[in-house]
Amino acid sequence: MLAYTALAALALGLRVSAQSIPAVASAEELALVGAQFANSGFNLTTNAGFGLDLDAKALLTVVYGFGAVENGQEYSVEQVTNAPEIYVTPAQDTAAWFNSSSRYTLTLADASALGDPDSEGNYRHFLANSETGAAASGNNLTFSPQDGTVITSYAAPGPLAGSGTHRYAWLLFAQPENFSAPSGLSTAGTAPSHWSVSSYVEQTGLQLVAASFFTVQPNGNPTGSVATTEAVNTATLAVSSASSTGSASHSDSKSGAHSSTSSGAQPSATGGSGNGAASLSASVAAGLLGVAGVVVAAL
Ligand SMILES: *[C@@H]1O[C@H](CO)[C@@H](O)[C@H](O)[C@H]1NC(C)=O
Ligand SMILES: *[C@@H]1O[C@H](CO)[C@@H](O)[C@H](O)[C@H]1NC(C)=O
Ligand SMILES: *[C@@H]1O[C@H](CO)[C@@H](O)[C@H](O)[C@H]1NC(C)=O
Ligand SMILES: *[C@@H]1O[C@H](CO)[C@@H](O)[C@H](O)[C@H]1NC(C)=O
Repeated sequence: MLAYTALAALALGLRVSAQSIPAVASAEELALVGAQFANSGFNLTTNAGFGLDLDAKALLTVVYGFGAVENGQEYSVEQVTNAPEIYVTPAQDTAAWFNSSSRYTLTLADASALGDPDSEGNYRHFLANSETGAAASGNNLTFSPQDGTVITSYAAPGPLAGSGTHRYAWLLFAQPENFSAPSGLSTAGTAPSHWSVSSYVEQTGLQLVAASFFTVQPNGNPTGSVATTEAVNTATLAVSSASSTGSASHSDSKSGAHSSTSSGAQPSATGGSGNGAASLSASVAAGLLGVAGVVVAAL
């Protein structure tokens, strides 16, 4: 079954159709994404992660040119060069979290390689505040966050050779009513740089409500430590050869040699193309595989 699902995803994965964006989340899917988030080490503290637990209120679907991100999966630098489209899918009983007065902060952050934290902190690849969007009604609750203020435009992941396989997470936060952007991170055009996701969250009172995460290996010959406990479904790695859109404009390294080049783009709210019903089951399968893989590796 697992092999079949992976093969189906391979066969359909080159072109993504609208259906890979789910209509409604189940409690099981929300619990699974929270477990995967922890298993990938994103809840670890002191730069090893973001120091946050994910009690997911929605699925976050991140659609790059190749299709939708499967949590824990590895992608190439080329595959994540351009800003993705973002979709939020609550469950029926969490839909109230996503209402017309809700405001969201959306970020893409790098937690470096598992087991090899960057001493300078997490790295900010995208940040937008005060986006809007409410759960749609009927059988399909999915919506895209829109508008808001883009503080840091999308800067593509591009880990420096030798720095290991980096972990990236798109994080969607619900903003409190009294949200106020911290000084230094309050104006559009702020360059990508090191930061601490947990300090930012503490300062602003944000609540993490959804996440999507993946890994990117440096181009060239990686000589850094590659985590053995990464939640990656190697069965679908071949899909990564599907698209190649040029080289990354941005490097991540342990030594702070981050280029501040960014694309000026922001994730777009419309125009999803999706991968068929196989994608959701494939990503659930990938998740289970990842969770199982971590359990084995941790023994
Ligand atoms: C649900 O709605 C979203 C946003 O309009 C759409 O992209 C997606 O294809 C829909 N999903 C299903 C399964 O109908
Ligand atoms: C991360 O989550 C796991 C699983 O829920 C938990 O066992 C662990 O204590 C958490 N770590 C931190 C630092 O919160
Ligand atoms: C709207 O959503 C926010 C979180 O995004 C929540 O704090 C608030 O209670 C919700 N309002 C209603 C009326 O449910
Ligand atoms: C926002 O309100 C909460 C209580 O609802 C309070 O604890 C917090 O200090 C306030 N934050 C700011 C920046 O005023």
